[in-house]
Amino acid sequence: MRTSNSPEKLLPSLNGKVILVTGAAKRVGRAIALRLAREGARVAIHYGSSGDEAKKTAEECGGAEIFKADLEKVSEIEAMFAAIDRRYGRLDGLVNNAARFTKIDPLDVTEADWDFIHDVNLKATFFCCREAGRRMKAQGHGRIVNISSLGGLRPWADHAHYCASKAGVIMLTKALAKSFGPGVTVNSVAPGVIPFGETVEGLDGMIRSTPAGRVGTGDEIADAVTFFLSATDYITGQIMAVDGGLSLK
Ligand SMILES: NC(=O)c1ccc[n+]([C@@H]2O[C@H](COP(=O)([O-])OP(=O)(O)OC[C@H]3O[C@@H](n4cnc5c(N)ncnc54)[C@H](OP(=O)(O)O)[C@@H]3O)[C@@H](O)[C@H]2O)c1
Repeated sequence: MRTSNSPEKLLPSLNGKVILVTGAAKRVGRAIALRLAREGARVAIHYGSSGDEAKKTAEECGGAEIFKADLEKVSEIEAMFAAIDRRYGRLDGLVNNAARFTKIDPLDVTEADWDFIHDVNLKATFFCCREAGRRMKAQGHGRIVNISSLGGLRPWADHAHYCASKAGVIMLTKALAKSFGPGVTVNSVAPGVIPFGETVEGLDGMIRSTPAGRVGTGDEIADAVTFFLSATDYITGQIMAVDGGLSLK
């Protein structure tokens, strides 16, 4: 029986750790990448179509590497992890941040609408976890953080397909935490409302319902991600809502 934390069970510092962040060119992913770089991590920046923004984020991370992959394609996910193997020879952390969001009345959702969301939010998250899990189990340590959503915890009438995908991410997190331990943890951060200048429908009402009385920031999501990435392997399968208390409603 293990009663103390041997070094491989801990990630006491992110300094020098190789951490892949998906969808890291902009918005929340960018905030996470910048924060991890400030913590001393060697951040691998994934992007899909935002090449210019990815390069800018990489520069701001002190010259990080960028990796392009269409996450809808498992072959491109596999190629990205193989490229990371060649570049770094190890992988200490994975942040599954990339996702899609659409609002459609469930009565109007088509097969293409469903696949558009699930192919990235759930399927790609699983296959990135599988690729990272294989490497981390072989190393004996690793930290995976899946970004889910308040929409995976609470039902939203016009986002049933999105809510289902994010609820899937939450269950995937718990099931993989059981599968990948010991040494490798899988946790999830569930953001509330994190706007980046865009108009959010019903924002005033949501703010009134939020105990914190405001929306959140990418830096606050990055704080929670950093916590899970640097926590011991005794914290796994957990979902941290970073939503100002909105999910308590
Ligand atoms: N913002 C919020 O209010 C909020 C609320 C709840 C949960 N969340 C969750 O927090 C995370 C970040 O939120 P966000 O608003 O910053 O996300 P976002 O801007 O909607 O998406 C993040 C990135 O995902 C990447 N992506 C999407 N489809 C892809 C594909 N097929 N292949 C490769 N990359 C793909 C895009 O990269 P490229 O631009 O490079 O293509 C995009 O920049 C997401 O998981 C989101 O669901 C956000």
